[in-house]
Amino acid sequence: MVAAARAAVVCGLGTHLPPRVVTNAELAREVDTSDEWIRSRTGIGRRHIAENGTATSDLAVEAGQRALKSASASGSAVAVDAVIVATTTPDHPCPATAPAVAARLGLGTVPAFDVGAVCTGFLYGLAAGGGLIAAGTAHGVLVIGAETYSSILDPADRSTRAIFGDGAGAVVLRAGEPDEPGALGPLVLGSDGTGSDLIRVPSGGSRDPVRPGHADRADPYFRMAGSKVFRNAVERMAEASQEAATRAGWTLQDIDVFVVHQANLRIMNAVADQMRLPRSRFPVHLDRVGNTAAASIPLALADAVTTGALRPGQRTALAAFGGGLTWGAATLTWPDITPV
Ligand code: ACO
Repeated sequence: MVAAARAAVVCGLGTHLPPRVVTNAELAREVDTSDEWIRSRTGIGRRHIAENGTATSDLAVEAGQRALKSASASGSAVAVDAVIVATTTPDHPCPATAPAVAARLGLGTVPAFDVGAVCTGFLYGLAAGGGLIAAGTAHGVLVIGAETYSSILDPADRSTRAIFGDGAGAVVLRAGEPDEPGALGPLVLGSDGTGSDLIRVPSGGSRDPVRPGHADRADPYFRMAGSKVFRNAVERMAEASQEAATRAGWTLQDIDVFVVHQANLRIMNAVADQMRLPRSRFPVHLDRVGNTAAASIPLALADAVTTGALRPGQRTALAAFGGGLTWGAATLTWPDITPV
């Protein structure tokens, strides 16, 4: 007899933002920009920036600890036996950041690995975590999206410094039933590597290693052809959301809340318009944190719960788009959990 596939159920949510806040006005003192430009083109008002010496794992450990607290406060006595860290900004190119995070969380020798899908990383992490649970490899998975984007931004590049911020968010997944609140529906994921040059860090990898004597022509900073990916981001998130809804047996109209990657308010509005849905169903968090890449969705989820925009029992869609190019969407009925 074949055992029924086990669903992955969201049962805890935790976040962490580094304390230092940088407003648009402060940024405008360092690069040629203005509060008016940043707000009108992106919707962003401020972002959190990690202090020098704070690494991605430091933010990930804080968010992970809080997600574990949230899970136990919600009554889920889940033993976490796998850790996934989705990040664009690992502590080191080698090894992965997740094993260090697992160790610092006191989780012992559990499997731990990183997922690299840039801003879609958290959804790829949910898919990987759900897969570990469905396969019976794990019973409880901590999926963390954590970024210190400030560590890869060019101090002179106004277009990226205006957008990105640092932070971390995490969920605990446990094995459960597909019809429970919190159970992840079928995830939709995609990629198009023909656009891999549109969002990237040119140097520091095997294509262009940074070596003594070559450092002067290396470019170790994050580069994004923003206007070229704008339309792509809108179309891919709308299509993926539609497909995830269909696979869940829902129409787009059935979905109460869309927690989408907080890349740019204009992109979020365009996704809502393309799907002919009221913009009010798309909670906004980026005004206070900017684009936090792989941390964006769990941070936005926690904020939406805190503000009352996302409530238990509501039909919820998640969608993201990012470097790779990558994209994805997922559905779930929001569970009764309190973010920590
Ligand atoms: N302040 C003032 N002017 C600026 C700034 C700034 N902070 N940034 C760019 N500009 C200027 C540019 O230099 C350019 O000037 P020019 O015309 O003299 O050359 C002008 O503004 C227009 O630049 P665009 O890049 O065309 O501006 P746009 O309106 O497209 O906004 C943005 C840029 C915000 C990056 C937008 O394109 C965007 O959000 N793109 C999508 C980003 C995205 O979704 N990425 C994927 C997810 S993120 C990830 O995966 C890591």
